[in-house]
Amino acid sequence: MLLGERLRVGDIVLLTGELGAGKTTFVRGLAQGTGSKADVASPTFQLVRIYPGRVQLAHVDLYRVESSTELRDLGLEELAEDGAVVVEWGDRLEVDGAALIHLEHLGGDRRMIRTRRDLRH
Ligand SMILES: Nc1ncnc2c1ncn2[C@@H]1O[C@H](COP(=O)(O)OP(=O)(O)O)[C@@H](O)[C@H]1O
Ligand SMILES: [Mg+2]
Repeated sequence: MLLGERLRVGDIVLLTGELGAGKTTFVRGLAQGTGSKADVASPTFQLVRIYPGRVQLAHVDLYRVESSTELRDLGLEELAEDGAVVVEWGDRLEVDGAALIHLEHLGGDRRMIRTRRDLRH
């Protein structure tokens, strides 16, 4: 939620963590922070869902994406021109300057969140 309030056009947040770690739930908080009232769910059939708000939030889920062609066709740059972008299974991408957030399920209601900025490229 608080991070969502600070999101700006061009921000890219890559979420990592296994199934059930809390990635979609985290996106729900981000979307609230952008002022979006959208119903956040994992994009099942669409690769990308767009939530209009104070800043547009594009919600990408790469869970079912296998080919690098699909990754290239995602149009990440275009999405980032129109707003902020958050990507579930973001370890399948390498993006300059993206924020990396790793979520871990610690059992029950406990989650661990680790963040760092991607300086790999
Ligand atoms: N921070 C949290 N605290 C407690 N439960 C959480 C938290 N984040 C997620 N959950 C719960 O964990 C389950 C999986 O969350 P989800 O966001 O769908 O994970 P993912 O998208 O990583 O697969 C859901 O039942 C959700 O309500
Ligand atoms: Mg999910």
